[in-house]
Amino acid sequence: MCPNRTFDETSAVRLIVTCAFGLEAVVKRELQALGFSGFSGADGRIEFPASVNDIPRINLWLRAADRVLLKLAEFPAADFDQLFDNTNRIPWENWIPREARITVLAKCVRSQLASERSCQSITKKAVVNRLLDHLRVRDLPETGEEYTIQASIIKDVAQITLDTTGPGLHKRGYRKDTGEAPLRENLAAALVLLSFYRPERLLLDPMCGSGTILIEAAMLARNIAPGLKRSFASESWAKVPAEAWEEARASARQAIIKEGELSIQGSDIDPARIEDAKANARRAGVGEDITFEVKDLKDLWIDKPSGIVISNPPYGIHVGSLKELTPLYVLLHKMFKNKDGWSLYILTADQRFPDFFKRARPDKVRKLFNGPIEAHYYQYYGKPPSPRG
Ligand SMILES: C[S@@+](CC[C@H](N)C(=O)[O-])C[C@H]1O[C@@H](n2cnc3c(N)ncnc32)[C@H](O)[C@@H]1O
Repeated sequence: MCPNRTFDETSAVRLIVTCAFGLEAVVKRELQALGFSGFSGADGRIEFPASVNDIPRINLWLRAADRVLLKLAEFPAADFDQLFDNTNRIPWENWIPREARITVLAKCVRSQLASERSCQSITKKAVVNRLLDHLRVRDLPETGEEYTIQASIIKDVAQITLDTTGPGLHKRGYRKDTGEAPLRENLAAALVLLSFYRPERLLLDPMCGSGTILIEAAMLARNIAPGLKRSFASESWAKVPAEAWEEARASARQAIIKEGELSIQGSDIDPARIEDAKANARRAGVGEDITFEVKDLKDLWIDKPSGIVISNPPYGIHVGSLKELTPLYVLLHKMFKNKDGWSLYILTADQRFPDFFKRARPDKVRKLFNGPIEAHYYQYYGKPPSPRG
């Protein structure tokens, strides 16, 4: 894990890390491992104290989160005047330069201010007004880097934040957009973090598609920071020292574990997906760590006494496809019914899965979201491997 260091304890800020509903505990554990504490917030928002110099490290290392927001204010906002006045009081000139392209996103939940469009334009007006006053200029050209402000109004309380991340943290930079709808990288990482996967264990995804789960597992095992190959919105901020970014990247590069072999295997019936998976793994720097092959689930032969399966079978959100899914569940059941050294972790939107995988009732079921799709993560624990493997 990345060493926990801060440059300048005086630059105290409050950060809000956002994540999909259901993943708050996973992300909190990640933040704890990075050395943070004092968490508050709920429903996909985790707030905690940090230093401005921690922003690079947090963006680089979080695997299961969506984005990292800098909290600038929280206030009651029951009407537009309150929203404007309190937003106008924020010292925006400390964060946003004159040339910035300013985007405001508003979200209104159970609040008297219900029009997100109006909240967006009031917030932007308040920011622009403040910048014109305090920068003593007549106009803002909006030709520079994008600064995204979020106004999140929940039960008449507004939280105003500045996005430090840019494109969501799931965009690691290793996946080409294939037009398919594969599992998001941060959800795949969360599935791995929720399993008891360790680098010495055998890991299998027999319907691996573009390989996201296995690639995230290999990156975890190699201690590769998921953000190492991409850039972030706050990299151009004057307030976050360039040396904080350089140090965070340098120590992330040093933290990579190069020694040791991993046992990670993926297969899929579709040759095109396996080609995608191989290319993605190479780009992620774990091409040598995973073996991929084209294989129908029905031809898979499990001869090892223990291991872990993490997989998301075709979802079955269309009624017509439900029938086609049943044989896959039955195959999994036949394959693993007598293999109690194997743990299975299956993400699917099809709630009939436990009716067909009958080895036991799931030890745990977790509701998770892949983008807008509600799914369940069925967790079946195998017997722990013996000390000799
Ligand atoms: C929801 S996708 C998995 C997406 C994957 N997690 C990813 O990140 O790209 C389900 C996959 O199951 C594969 N599949 C369907 N039937 C199969 C079968 N009989 N044997 C093996 N793979 C199969 C599909 O080709 C598809 O890639």
